[in-house]
Amino acid sequence: MKVGVLTGGGDCPGLNAVIRAVVRKGEQEYGCGFVGFKDGWRGAVEGRTVPLDIPAVRGILPRGGTILGSSRTNPFKTENGVRDIKENLAKYEVDALIAIGGEDTLGVAARLHAEYGIPCVGVPKTIDNDLSATDYTFGFDTAVGIATEAIDRLHTTAESHMRVLVVEVMGRHAGWIALHSGLAGGANVILIPEQRFDVDQVCAWVTSRFKASYAPIVVVAEGAMPKDGDMVLKDGTKDSFGHVRLSGVGEWLAKEIEARTGKEARTTVLGHIQRGGTPSAFDRWLATRFGLHAIDAVHDRDFGKMVALKGTDIVRVPIADATAKLKTVDPALYKEVGVFFG
Ligand code: F6P
Repeated sequence: MKVGVLTGGGDCPGLNAVIRAVVRKGEQEYGCGFVGFKDGWRGAVEGRTVPLDIPAVRGILPRGGTILGSSRTNPFKTENGVRDIKENLAKYEVDALIAIGGEDTLGVAARLHAEYGIPCVGVPKTIDNDLSATDYTFGFDTAVGIATEAIDRLHTTAESHMRVLVVEVMGRHAGWIALHSGLAGGANVILIPEQRFDVDQVCAWVTSRFKASYAPIVVVAEGAMPKDGDMVLKDGTKDSFGHVRLSGVGEWLAKEIEARTGKEARTTVLGHIQRGGTPSAFDRWLATRFGLHAIDAVHDRDFGKMVALKGTDIVRVPIADATAKLKTVDPALYKEVGVFFG
């Protein structure tokens, strides 16, 4: 059996661990051959491939990024995209496709399978942890670890100068990274996209920390918005999703805090540092298990399915279950964590 593999969407620590597990088990246990499509769906549309075998995946387990490259190309939004994919699958004699990606990449895999009968198996990835149908995605633990370390470091410099330090972390639609790293790092305020925040309330929390002789740390997800949302600066540029970017919520908030409390404030935007570099041990473990189970699903010809973590088990669910609705932070959980604010 010949299996195509691709990685789509934003890169994520652990992608290489999945590829390695798929290829090693597939070749050794099932006698599969592999072909890697370059740069996500774009490579499948354009017929750009790389050889994929055990020597090609040697040494990649601890490496961040993806040896296959990635893109946000959507064949359903590309002229003749699906037709070209079908032609290339035939050309490279691909019997099944493993698509490793987030909402968009998996959404394409679900449609290719449902509408065109293309045999796809999905593997969920995103540092944002906002995919439904799986308890966790790999990449999230690494991102939370990096953000937590940053918060730890910011505490000491904040205290030395008795300043407010605002840390902007990733998360356009879901506040998982902010919530987990903020709690782990002992932040005094955590702001997430799921709940609009009140700047006066944030300033009250900040002030109360200073009264207790602590320099406050505010963690804000990039997608968090104040109640009076128009106040967030729009820089007018478009991101890779084609959305107008609401940029600089962290920068904007620090200025507001300074103006309203009279306390000095600074901002750190962690950005792609959260996505780059070596995966944590947990992410290597999860990504490897996902890879092993994905090639099992291919071997079983159980297509249209995605591997997912449920408790400590890896299960198979319809790919569509992961893409139907984003997994966002439950208000009750946010409230629970809120006991540490201020
Ligand atoms: O989906 C993962 C993610 O890292 C988001 O948290 C972030 O908003 C986005 O990707 C950034 O995308 P890009 O690297 O294309 O700017």
